Amino acid sequence: MVSDKRLRRLDERVDEFRMRIKDSSDREVFADVFDTATLMALYELAKKGYIDAMGGSVSTGKEANIFHAISKKNNTLEIAVKIYMISTANFNTMKEYILGDPRFTGIKQSRKDIILAWARKEFKNLKRAEDAGVRVPKPYITRRNILLMEFIGKDGVPMPQLKDVKLTEKEAQSIFNRILDYMRLLYSRAGLVHADMSEYNILIDMNDMSPVIIDMGQSVMIDHFNAETFLRRDVNNIARFFKN
Ligand SMILES: Nc1ncnc2c1ncn2[C@@H]1O[C@H](COP(=O)(O)OP(=O)(O)OP(=O)(O)O)[C@@H](O)[C@H]1O
Ligand SMILES: [Mg+2]
Repeated sequence: MVSDKRLRRLDERVDEFRMRIKDSSDREVFADVFDTATLMALYELAKKGYIDAMGGSVSTGKEANIFHAISKKNNTLEIAVKIYMISTANFNTMKEYILGDPRFTGIKQSRKDIILAWARKEFKNLKRAEDAGVRVPKPYITRRNILLMEFIGKDGVPMPQLKDVKLTEKEAQSIFNRILDYMRLLYSRAGLVHADMSEYNILIDMNDMSPVIIDMGQSVMIDHFNAETFLRRDVNNIARFFKN
């Protein structure tokens, strides 16, 4: 049993955090995503110094919302806060990816557990990709349905998606080659297939016109029963995009 005193303290903390995010530019978005448990997890991350200030919303997707934030943990750092929604409409698809993954065989199958596993899965996949030499947002920490990672962008403005960048022939060629390298590294060194590779999930670092691969929650290990299908689809997506 949680004592009254403890409950009250919990409430106070939640209110405190609400207050801190209240003047943020995206109040409605915050109200949408933050159930109390998520708020508490954010509070814990703030208390441990991983988040100093929440910024604006970068993207509101079907399964997750992404916010910009500042962390002062090691020097001041811009970070991306990805918050998976427990009520995602994509739940059934997500379940299929998780259930074929040997790293997650033991997990319970409730909606909440699957979503929480999804956040851990994206964290692990990003880490594996990074270790294999693929440029991805550096993953920092995951708590509950929240993933903190490197912000690809500057001053709160994310780098553009590949689909929105006007490329010269030469730039397109070099980005295409780099993406192929990354897909090879992912497969042979990280043992992963991205499984949602497209011009939407590749950001372009405009400083050096190089690709950054994002969104790896759905990535699967190469022995997943659908890995080959996913790999073919990934390759097709990239080939289709660069054909034009
Ligand atoms: N680390 C990051 N740094 C900067 N921007 C990011 C980062 N991660 C994601 N974004 C931005 O948020 C968008 C959505 O991110 P992501 O693809 O990971 O989420 P998603 O759940 O697939 O959302 P959607 O359903 O919209 O595809 C990206 O296209 C990008 O603009
Ligand atoms: Mg995406």
